Formats: sequence, C-alpha cells, structure tokens
Amino acid sequence: MIYFLDTADVKAIARCVDLYPVAGVTTNPSLIARENRPLGDILKDIRDTIGPDKMIHAQVLSPDADIMVDEAQRLRDRVGEGFHVKVPVTAQGMKAISKISSLGIPVTATAIVTAEQALMAAVAGASYTAPYVNRLDNICGDGIRVVSEIAHLFKTHQLDALLLTASFKNVQQIHDVAMAGAHSATLPPDLLELLIVHPLTDSGVSGFVSDWEGVYGKGATILDLI
Ligand code: G3P
Repeated sequence: MIYFLDTADVKAIARCVDLYPVAGVTTNPSLIARENRPLGDILKDIRDTIGPDKMIHAQVLSPDADIMVDEAQRLRDRVGEGFHVKVPVTAQGMKAISKISSLGIPVTATAIVTAEQALMAAVAGASYTAPYVNRLDNICGDGIRVVSEIAHLFKTHQLDALLLTASFKNVQQIHDVAMAGAHSATLPPDLLELLIVHPLTDSGVSGFVSDWEGVYGKGATILDLI
C-alpha cells in the first residue's frame, strides 16, 4: 500500500511527511480553495515541504477538454518532476485524459464512482484511477465493492493503471480497500495518523518504560548504559 496525503494544508503535510511513509500529496479544487491563497504559492509550498522526489497530484477545473489540457500543462510547468494531473471522468474528461497522457503527462482519473468509469479512463491512458469510497458509502453505495471490481477488471484486461483509492472517513474503509488489492490510498492527515493508533500499543510502550525505570532509574536510556 502506498499512502498519499489528501490535503493542501502545508503544516499538516510537514508533520505527516516527517513521521510516516508518505509517497506524495493529492489535492482537488475544494482542498485548494480551503487554503484561500494563490494556487502557485500553495503548490510551491507543498513541493518545498515534501522535497523533489515525492509525487504531487493536482486537479484541473475546466469542464472543457481543450482547456483541461492547457491547465494540465500549466500545472505541470509549475510543479515539475513527479507531477500527475487529476482529471474527472466526465465525457470531456475522457477526451482530456487521452490528449494529456499522449503529451507524456501522467493522468490520475478522478471522481470515479463506478468500475466502468475506471476501466474507460485506464483504456484512455490514465496511469492512476481514483474511486471515491466514502462518497459512495454515504448514499448507500458500496465503495469497497467498486474498488474490488476495478482491481479485478484491471487484472482481467491486463491494464497497467493503478488504483489510487480516495474519499475516506474511517480506518475500516482503508483496511477494506487494502484487502481488496488497492495499490494506494490518499488520506486526510488526521485519518493517516489514526491508522496506527491503538491503546494496547500505548499501554505496552508505557509498561516497557516503567519496568526499565524501576530498575535503572528514571530517565535512564539505553545510550547511558552501554
Ligand atoms: O481528493 C478527492 C477525494 O479524496 C474526496 O474526498 O473526503 O471530499 O469525499 P472527500
């Protein structure tokens, strides 16, 4: 499983990149707008924060394929290496996915809620496909089932496109997509942190420290003793 951060909040990105094995950052127009500052500054700050080697997936906004292509090129010029453009799987989006990927810009097809959308996006040239799990679950859909179907279809049709699962509200959903064979998941920072939280781990670690300090003294470290 490859973890991405689904946010444009640079402070949260800095904390998570320092602690966790994060492969990159994904944003969308809503996440950018939440920051309420210039797009170019946000992208530069994200790049400066995560370093030159991690991926940035940023999304086009226009509903028109030709303008999406222009937006993708402008975003690519701004972000540089490791850039992937997110394109929604509308009819114009499918046209844009073909055009943009033929220009050599990797495409992440986004706003996916059916396996057929993911299949067509992969055939059009998308290198990642992003199904929205929680948004489906919220309306009595089955986000995990859609992810499983996409994984199955990509395998059956021998497509190289990867599954970048998105839209999560709880750890169980992330566990379920991992079990379903998703290659990666993009998570809000608070959910990434929750993935490893467990009170038994915390109490286990407290027990190690108190047993140790009971013998070697408070604050004694391994480095003090050998
Ligand atoms: O980046 C798009 C996707 O992750 C949406 O998530 O939480 O707005 O449903 P959410």
